[in-house]
Amino acid sequence: METQVGIVGAGPAGLVLSHLLALQGIDNVVLEQKTRDRVESRVRAGVLEQGSADLLIDTGVGGRMVAEGAVHEGVNLQFDGERHRIDFTALADGRTITVYGQQEVVKDLIAARLAAGGTILFEAEDVAPHDVIGPAPSLTFRHCGSERELACSVVAGCDGFHGVCRDAIPRRARREFGREYPFGWLGILAAVAPSTDELIYAFSERGFALHSLRSPEISRLYLQVDPADHVSNWPDERIWDELRLRLASPGWTLHEGPVLEKAITGMRSFVCEPMQYGNLFLAGDAAHIVPPTGAKGMNLAIADVTVLARALAAHFNDGDRAGLERYSERCLGRVWRVQDFSNTMTELLHVLPGDDPFSSRVQRAKQRYVESSVAMRRTIAENYVGLPLD
Ligand code: FAD
Ligand code: PHB
Repeated sequence: METQVGIVGAGPAGLVLSHLLALQGIDNVVLEQKTRDRVESRVRAGVLEQGSADLLIDTGVGGRMVAEGAVHEGVNLQFDGERHRIDFTALADGRTITVYGQQEVVKDLIAARLAAGGTILFEAEDVAPHDVIGPAPSLTFRHCGSERELACSVVAGCDGFHGVCRDAIPRRARREFGREYPFGWLGILAAVAPSTDELIYAFSERGFALHSLRSPEISRLYLQVDPADHVSNWPDERIWDELRLRLASPGWTLHEGPVLEKAITGMRSFVCEPMQYGNLFLAGDAAHIVPPTGAKGMNLAIADVTVLARALAAHFNDGDRAGLERYSERCLGRVWRVQDFSNTMTELLHVLPGDDPFSSRVQRAKQRYVESSVAMRRTIAENYVGLPLD
């Protein structure tokens, strides 16, 4: 097999890249290790920045998102029961977010690629990149029982944090930065109408809680837990009790319903520099991870591949490689801005384990500053809705 761009991974990064390249007439093949069903049913992110939503609409894959997603003009931060609305209309020049599940974005993109005659090979096993430093890279893999090879000019490593592409950059040629947080999130999907019109991020002495939503019938909620904890310790009743306590606010009631799904995820920050090695380009979680408190991971993945698709179009269509050579530098500027925002939101809203009275006093001071300062709320608003790409 032969193609111009070999894409590893059919998450948001790989699929948006495949779609953008196809629109520019650039041939590409996506190799995905999981089944289509698995990729389409993984419950993860839910918040699209204005720029991500605009991109999906402008490139013809936003129809269902517009019909079924919800545009939100604000979010709530709550400290010890007191709710403070971050008003995007007033503070972020009218930019908004769209609440629409990541797996719905993935479904829409897969349907669009297949309808346009694109190639996505699901259940591609043992994918391995070769010769990425030179002009003729390739990807070997096993598919339907046979060994295959995909020759390509460029490899896009969109294979998430646990993928294989990042390791194709020799250790001496890359530097990794990161930290693990001493807490994780227990996330549930519940068959109950959301108890709020807008997201609520709540700090309480019992820990962080988040009320998000998916549809008029489905709520998405999270609790700060020990990352080593196990869902078997969290029967539904305990989850609802804890959510009720942490989200409590005068005059407000949390509606409860059947829990459809629950999982615990650890939290980390991670950046790999550079995001390029020869003709290998990393995008999305393959290159960086942010803690989910800023709702940024999927958006950052989409921002990376927007930059990459433009650079690849200039390369393949105009013979201009300058954009490709600047790819890593351009992406990393945004990546580190988003790392700062995600870390700030995480430290503002979680109970930091260990008894460090100085840090908790500083945290309380930051929370009070959100309450009192329009400048602080504006900073949160403009980062939350997403800074412009250029
Ligand atoms: P992935 O979605 O991880 O996709 C990578 C793909 O590559 C997968 O399909 C995988 O199966 C495939 N793959 C891996 N290895 C191989 C291999 N060797 N060969 C072939 N294929 C391979 N982000 C937001 O923007 N907003 C949010 O509200 C938000 N909330 C989140 C909540 C939670 C609980 C979690 C866990 C994450 C959240 N995120 C959020 C982050 C977001 O889900 C990720 O950043 C996003 O999925 C990154 O997309 P990606 O395409 O880079 O990687
Ligand atoms: C979600 O709806 O899944 C969600 C929303 C906001 C976040 C993280 C996850 O910060």
